Amino acid sequence: MEYYHEPVLLAEVLQHLHCTNGSTVIDCTLGGAGHAEAILDLIKPEGYLLGIDADDAALDAARVRLARFSQQIFSLVKGNFRDLDRILTGAGLHAVDGVLFDLGVSSVQFDRAERGFSYRFDAPLDMRMDQTEDLTAAEIVNTYGEAELSRIIKEYGEERWAHRIASLIVKARRKRPIGTTFELVDIIKDAIPAPARRKGGHPAKRTFQAIRIAVNDELSILEHSFRDAVRWLRPQGRLVVISYHSLEDKVAKSVINDLATVCLCPPDLPVCSCGLKPQLRVVTRKAIRPEPKEMADNPRAESARLRAAEKL
Ligand SMILES: C[S@@+](CC[C@H](N)C(=O)[O-])C[C@H]1O[C@@H](n2cnc3c(N)ncnc32)[C@H](O)[C@@H]1O
Repeated sequence: MEYYHEPVLLAEVLQHLHCTNGSTVIDCTLGGAGHAEAILDLIKPEGYLLGIDADDAALDAARVRLARFSQQIFSLVKGNFRDLDRILTGAGLHAVDGVLFDLGVSSVQFDRAERGFSYRFDAPLDMRMDQTEDLTAAEIVNTYGEAELSRIIKEYGEERWAHRIASLIVKARRKRPIGTTFELVDIIKDAIPAPARRKGGHPAKRTFQAIRIAVNDELSILEHSFRDAVRWLRPQGRLVVISYHSLEDKVAKSVINDLATVCLCPPDLPVCSCGLKPQLRVVTRKAIRPEPKEMADNPRAESARLRAAEKL
């Protein structure tokens, strides 16, 4: 298939979503529908899957991959999972058995040169998942102040040379606007000292990730989206989150732990008086990492961490 996306931690997702024939499952990050396809095989013929993606190209690829299933058992919606309540209400749903978030971008996006996500292809600096949004990578790179650029690259890219990269970006754009991925790659390469450039994968990888996260506002929407998802779950329903970045995983962990908190009373109080009712049971005490074989076969899996929780 032309734009195939290999689903990450597939067996673990299916194990923790606990879906069976008749389950209603929301895939908040449909992508190339790798997970969705396997979920549909488990929940058919009586189940129902709603797949959401902000990206039209992902929805097109998903439609091709899911063509063998009856249209009665799935719907695909263009939207952002930050609007989960509105999307699920609009779909006429009341409660669901499973919600999956497989965060970040898919191969469907990376492999299309013209989308500007990849440092491997020369293309306009775009990186929007939803191409109807206004903010592009070019705008960030050409208009954000040096301190803000440095913060984004350091925080979202975990890039040690963020300060130097931001400084060279600002210097380069004084001559003329930075228009393409390869122009940005050259600036990043110039900013990173040669010995550091030879370690840790492609030198532009971390900066591209950082700018993509900023373009799509990927982090700030997570907490409320996870909380919304939990509210939609039926008792025993499962939330499964795969993150690829420590900041994403931190939000998943903290929301799950917060909603699983049993009591906020001081430890010396003999009887609980806070009346707190936990909403979740933590299923994965430690985040699940892919097996070495999966990481070797699929480099995208390397940074993946899965967390799951069950609605009480
Ligand atoms: C890692 S891919 C998912 C791959 C998918 N699980 C599969 O097996 O093919 C993430 C997808 O989520 C989408 N996405 C990321 N953030 C989103 C958001 N806030 N709302 C809707 N879709 C989002 C991206 O466009 C991308 O297609």
